[in-house]
Amino acid sequence: MMGIKYYEDERIFKLDTPKSTYMIGIVDDEQFVGHIYYGKRIEDYHLGYLMRTEEAPYVPSKNNRDRTSFLDCFPMEYPAHGLGDYREDCLMVKTPEGYTACGLNYVSHQIFEGKKPLEGLPATYGKEDECSTLELVCMDQSLKLEVTLVYSIFEKLDVITRSVRVRNLNDAPITLTKVYSACLDVENKDYEMITLHGSWARERHIQKRVIGHGKQSVSSLRGESSHQDHPFMAIASPDIKENQGEIYGLSFIYSGNFMAQTELDQFNTVRAVMGIHSTDFAWVLEKEEVFTAPEVIMVYSSEGMGHMTRTYHDLFRNHLIRGKYTHKKRPILINNWEATYFDFNTDKLLDIAREASKLGIEMLVMDDGWFGSRSSDNCALGDWQVNEEKIKGGLKYLVDEVNKLGMQFGIWFEPEMISPDSDLYRAHPDWAIQIPNRTPSLCRNQYVLDLSRKEIRDYVYDMMSKVLRSANITYVKWDMNRQISDMGSFYLDKEHQGELYHRYVLGVYDLQERLIRDFPDLLLENCSGGGARFDPGMLYYSPQIWCSDDTDAVERLKIQEGTAMIYPLSSMGAHVSDCPNHTVGRVTSFETRGYVALAGTFGYELDVTRISEEDRNMIPDQVEMYHKYNDLVREGDYYRIASYSENHTHDAWQVVSKDKKEALLTYIQVLAEPNYHSRRIYLKGLDIHTFYEVEETKKVYSGEALMYAGINIERIFGDFKGKLIHLIAKA
Ligand code: GLA
Repeated sequence: MMGIKYYEDERIFKLDTPKSTYMIGIVDDEQFVGHIYYGKRIEDYHLGYLMRTEEAPYVPSKNNRDRTSFLDCFPMEYPAHGLGDYREDCLMVKTPEGYTACGLNYVSHQIFEGKKPLEGLPATYGKEDECSTLELVCMDQSLKLEVTLVYSIFEKLDVITRSVRVRNLNDAPITLTKVYSACLDVENKDYEMITLHGSWARERHIQKRVIGHGKQSVSSLRGESSHQDHPFMAIASPDIKENQGEIYGLSFIYSGNFMAQTELDQFNTVRAVMGIHSTDFAWVLEKEEVFTAPEVIMVYSSEGMGHMTRTYHDLFRNHLIRGKYTHKKRPILINNWEATYFDFNTDKLLDIAREASKLGIEMLVMDDGWFGSRSSDNCALGDWQVNEEKIKGGLKYLVDEVNKLGMQFGIWFEPEMISPDSDLYRAHPDWAIQIPNRTPSLCRNQYVLDLSRKEIRDYVYDMMSKVLRSANITYVKWDMNRQISDMGSFYLDKEHQGELYHRYVLGVYDLQERLIRDFPDLLLENCSGGGARFDPGMLYYSPQIWCSDDTDAVERLKIQEGTAMIYPLSSMGAHVSDCPNHTVGRVTSFETRGYVALAGTFGYELDVTRISEEDRNMIPDQVEMYHKYNDLVREGDYYRIASYSENHTHDAWQVVSKDKKEALLTYIQVLAEPNYHSRRIYLKGLDIHTFYEVEETKKVYSGEALMYAGINIERIFGDFKGKLIHLIAKA
């Protein structure tokens, strides 16, 4: 097999990607599965000594009196609960008698080309010549619980994916109370932990901290991946920079409760674990049933953060995102949310569309407020019938009129929700997630539908698809505007209530899969109160996700920098909105807002009939700019050049085409400074032997000069100003 080998004499598995190696060893008569190595690629496989089985505490067959000590320091590939490994474990059960311990030992393995899909879950995909898979079958003999550790490597990317399958071979049911997806034990090298932290309107800001003794984690118990924490962590050497340092990224393809934790133990080993959060998780496995834990994507780079970033981008663009828009330019849309909020009707929307179409905008998106009696966020979620008092003439009329202007039409839904003041709730109060005899907490005046139930999913899907079939609708914004609380289902018995969080997420996935299967030409954009569900799970269904409700050009620098650490620019929903900005009140130039939105999907979110003429007149140029650069931005390699969150004055990033013949540098001066020269910027990712012409000045520079000696950005007068520098290789 290409990148995965088993060395039988040494009992060692070696997984190679172009620049990384991962090694697993089987030790002792008891067949413990140990982690040997993950790091820079090496050809030598005689590395079993790293597991320290020749030193005290010896493996149990040599010295069973110290079994717990052995388990507590052995580098475990997938640690289980309760037998002596007191570090964080990945697997815990509850037997019918109430016991919680388990232990796993190797039984057999299989190596094959390609990669199997994960039933009901989003996951990376690849053809047989693109990836290969190792399945390590382990058992807890006393519980008769089979646990298969699944590893896939991508031949051209430094990626190793992991997931876990648990099968109950016992006659009696067993309850799984924790099934994490991955564990990584690495020898500490003063590592730091990098995570993405946030809040509504402040999503995914980069955070670094020293990994200290004990445990440090990010997690979500909000029923979604959340604004606050993000299902990603990296372990990095303290010298980590864009182009230097060692980094391990772990990204979780899941959109619900998660845990991402590092722990520095007494022997200076860092244990990183990632998976579905175990709080409020209890999954009953009947005889022969299988539970699949979602996939973790591990990326290793010894060449700095940038290589990790670009590896995730390539993986997501080629092996996670699906559908016809994956590699296609998206229509430039104008969304009416910040333009009108709930106060719109057919006439208003057509006014916007008429003006927008003249300027080159290609799609009108009708946001929240078109259905039921919805005129504020207090009611009607669940009543997905067009409000013909607002949408006079009906939806088809509106869409046809928009189409006649040469524009496409898109629509907003929040399918997972139910307002207490809705016909749906009055008919089915038991469809909301809630605990009997307890008044559930409202959030944005709404409840969450119990999507664990197929009949509820069917109902929602039916409503949505009727609307979508009623007119020529080519885009859906799928929103999710509250976090889940009061976890309870009227339909689950007491043994199964602990399955609700995960069943909810599976329900969302099922609905989105149906939608993209039945409407393959639809452009789907996920959203959650801004960017609370910007995660790889959702990217499997939609090629783009709304990044944040904060559209201020300066705030977006931080949000988009953090998001782009893992996610390709092609996936980041970004719009030019009106000023003073609705979230922070800041006034930035229309031009700068355009440059910042260009680093994402690009669109507008303003009342184009009411902005100043000067701004409106800039739109055709911005439209042209988008069409000129989007192929490069969407498909190219992304490099961070300067970070405003670090230097507090300016920001710069660069996109380079895969063939290195074209590059675009975006430079944003956030705050002007007095009395300084031009600013020296060092470009990245160019070909040192190529000469590049700067389109704007026609000056020619060598790639090596641009990268190693730098380029001078002329002093700019004023705050919040930006500029683009377009480089084209000379023939
Ligand atoms: C969320 C979204 C916004 C908008 C509103 C509508 O906040 O992020 O873009 O769609 O909901 O209620």
